[in-house]
This record gives sequence, C-alpha cells and structure tokens, in this order.
Amino acid sequence: MKNKILIAPSILAADFARLKEEIQSVEAAGADLIHIDVMDGNFVPNITIGPCIIKDIRKITKLPLISHLMIANPFKYADDFFNAGSDAISVHIETIKADDFKSNAPKIKNKKRKIGIALNPPTDLSAIKDLASLADFVLVMSVNPGFAGQSFIPDVIPKIKELRKFYSGDIEVDGGINDKNAKLVLEAGANILAAASFIFKANDRKDAIERLRNAK
Ligand code: DX5
Ligand code: ZN
Repeated sequence: MKNKILIAPSILAADFARLKEEIQSVEAAGADLIHIDVMDGNFVPNITIGPCIIKDIRKITKLPLISHLMIANPFKYADDFFNAGSDAISVHIETIKADDFKSNAPKIKNKKRKIGIALNPPTDLSAIKDLASLADFVLVMSVNPGFAGQSFIPDVIPKIKELRKFYSGDIEVDGGINDKNAKLVLEAGANILAAASFIFKANDRKDAIERLRNAK
C-alpha cells in the first residue's frame, strides 16, 4: 500500500442525517479510505464528531477509517479513537510536544494501528522533520483546518516536493482538493487525497473519485 494512490472521501461534506448511505455510496464508488474530521472547537473553530459516532461508522463499512484529529491533547484520546474502530489517527504538530509523538508512535504501531503527523499551511516542514520517520504518513493541510469547502492554498505544492525529498512514506493532502489541483499534488509526490466537497457534492461520485485517482 505504500505510496499507492489512495482516495479518502472526507465525510465532513456528507449529509449526516443519512451517514450510513453516504459512506456506503462512496465505498461503492471506489473510495479506498474514509477520512473522518474530528474537531473540538478549541484547536479549530468548529465542532464535529467523536468516538461514539465512529463506533457506529465502524459497523457499516469495511474501509479503513482515518480519524483526522483537529483537537487539543490528541494523545489523551487516541485509545478512544482506536477502540471505536479507527485504523489510523493523524495528530497535528501544532497540538503536541515532539517528545509525546516519539513516545506514543511506537505504542500505536505495536498495536498494529497507524499514526500520521499533520501540519497546517503556515507550519514549516522543519517542525516535523525529526518525527516523520516515526510516522506512517504525513498529512499536509492545504487549507487552514476547520471547514469543508475552502479554497486550496497553492503554496503547499513546493512543501510537498520538499517533504518527498526526505520522506518515503505516504503523504496525504487535505483541503480544497479537486481534479485540477490533484494533478499538481500527485506530481509533487503526495499519494493520498482527502476530499470532502469534490466527492460528496458531485453528481457522480464514482466519476469524481476516478478523476482524482487518474489526475496525474
Ligand atoms: C478541513 C478538513 C478537511 C475538509 C476537506 O478542516 O480537515 O478534511 O473536510 O474539505 P474539502 O475537500 O471540501 O476542502
Ligand atoms: Zn481532514
């Protein structure tokens, strides 16, 4: 799976009143992963969902669940997310101490779960350089986190290229992804595309997923 192109619909743009059908529709449309945006109203200015909903999502899809934790103190809640059925979590460098990442990453890997390190658009790559080798993936944010439907920030393209020079693991990009910037992002070296609006707002979700997958 390493560096294979993977498409991860973010359920933030789904109709939450019909969450089961929404997730099953992107699974049928060829999604590889489900990206779940967890927001606490503290690290980001929005509040979304937590482990109790992930526990129910786990029952209705076979796809791996990635919980994108946009919350303060993510390691305090890591076990709750894994126990609810998350296969992977991503934690923001802006919310943790490097030493906490170094001590928690091996524990998570021992449990056969995955850990990603995420960074916001203004955060320099130097902040995660020493931690990347301990991570299963790096999540490069291409919007300031908080909401679906924002515009892609093109400054992240050189950042992805620079990251790919020293990091051979999976690189996920998240925020404002569409079939046009997906080409640039994949060419820069990313391989996991998280997208909410482009997939969930599409008339044909299968076509949207294929267009992202084949954007290069
Ligand atoms: C932003 C979230 C993203 C968001 C993407 O805070 O982390 O995952 O849902 O939404 P789109 O693809 O609409 O920008
Ligand atoms: Zn996200």
